[in-house]
Amino acid sequence: MTYIKMPQYDIFIEKNGLLNLPKYIADVYTYHDIYIVTDETVYELYGKKIENILVTHKVFFVVVKPGEKSKSLDTYHQVVKELVQKGMRRNHLLIALGGGVVGDLTGFVASTIFRGVPFVQIPTTLLAQVDSSVGGKVGIDLEEGKNLVGSFYNPLFVLIDPEFLKTLSKREYANGLAEMIKAGLIGDKKLYHHLLSHDLVTEEEITMAIQVKRAVVLVDPYDKKERMFLNFGHTFGHAIEKKHHYESYKHGEAISYGMLFALQVGIKYHETKQELYDEVKELLLARGLVKEPLLKMEDYIREIQSDKKFLANGLNFIIVDRIGDAKIVPLKESDFL
Ligand SMILES: NC(=O)c1ccc[n+]([C@@H]2O[C@H](COP(=O)([O-])OP(=O)(O)OC[C@H]3O[C@@H](n4cnc5c(N)ncnc54)[C@H](O)[C@@H]3O)[C@@H](O)[C@H]2O)c1
Repeated sequence: MTYIKMPQYDIFIEKNGLLNLPKYIADVYTYHDIYIVTDETVYELYGKKIENILVTHKVFFVVVKPGEKSKSLDTYHQVVKELVQKGMRRNHLLIALGGGVVGDLTGFVASTIFRGVPFVQIPTTLLAQVDSSVGGKVGIDLEEGKNLVGSFYNPLFVLIDPEFLKTLSKREYANGLAEMIKAGLIGDKKLYHHLLSHDLVTEEEITMAIQVKRAVVLVDPYDKKERMFLNFGHTFGHAIEKKHHYESYKHGEAISYGMLFALQVGIKYHETKQELYDEVKELLLARGLVKEPLLKMEDYIREIQSDKKFLANGLNFIIVDRIGDAKIVPLKESDFL
């Protein structure tokens, strides 16, 4: 078992750690009733198992549809109503069991229902384990855009059990891998080299990726400045997702192209080496995150130009010159043309 200490909570990374859930809960929670929000897929796969593990508790499930559409005001409303109807009280524990969608939605519910209830994250996708369950950001989307309503709300603990990853589809697995490759590129050379050599991640690599995010979150808990480093590849990644209406590319695939574009920008204006671009491209191709023929940067510049902040003040862009070392550079519109 590996254990990472955040200022207000602990992250436990443990193979088969789910079996020890009652022990982890007993350290922070004394009541009998536990409420679990999950999605249909995760409920099918793990609902019974969790019920058996938490046999000494009374467990109430609220199950939402899988996918980003559940990070909505409608689903938020449905979940809080169902929790209240099932008898939840303000000292009862709420668990998010699922990927980033369930984690973000349930965390937001936890931060608002009864003005805040005790909350635990059990992330079940690779992306949620290395990224969304760490850092305290919770929230939902509006039709006008993603993550427009939310808050910062810390769990009592995060339990990461790599065994969950065995049932993930190849595409979902790769989706999380993209964020790990990003973490390696911006903050941990050793992690990057591990990821170059094999495609199935270990507990050690999950821990390394979390440590990269932890370091940034600790200096910038409320996302004012330094968390921006985590956006390497995301400026173009978001542009790609937006242009294709969040349908053709998964987030990890879009940021993979975004990382390649960011490396190209680095080559053009800074000291990023062509060999690094070539190596990352091979890695992303091998993991199925990008495909030949690659998307072209110029096709997405208009999406970035439509950002008013960019037009008025230039754009803070994240460059990786050397593996494990990122920097913020202000770029003008003309720098991309
Ligand atoms: N809060 C943050 O800091 C933060 C950071 C990054 C991303 N996010 C958010 O995370 C969300 C994406 O998360 P995601 O990629 O985990 O998507 P997701 O939650 O939609 O999960 C992806 C799919 O995998 C399924 N699934 C989950 N666990 C499984 C398992 N163990 N076995 C089989 N199938 C399983 C789900 O049912 C779903 O269909 C986005 O909404 C994004 O905005 C938040």
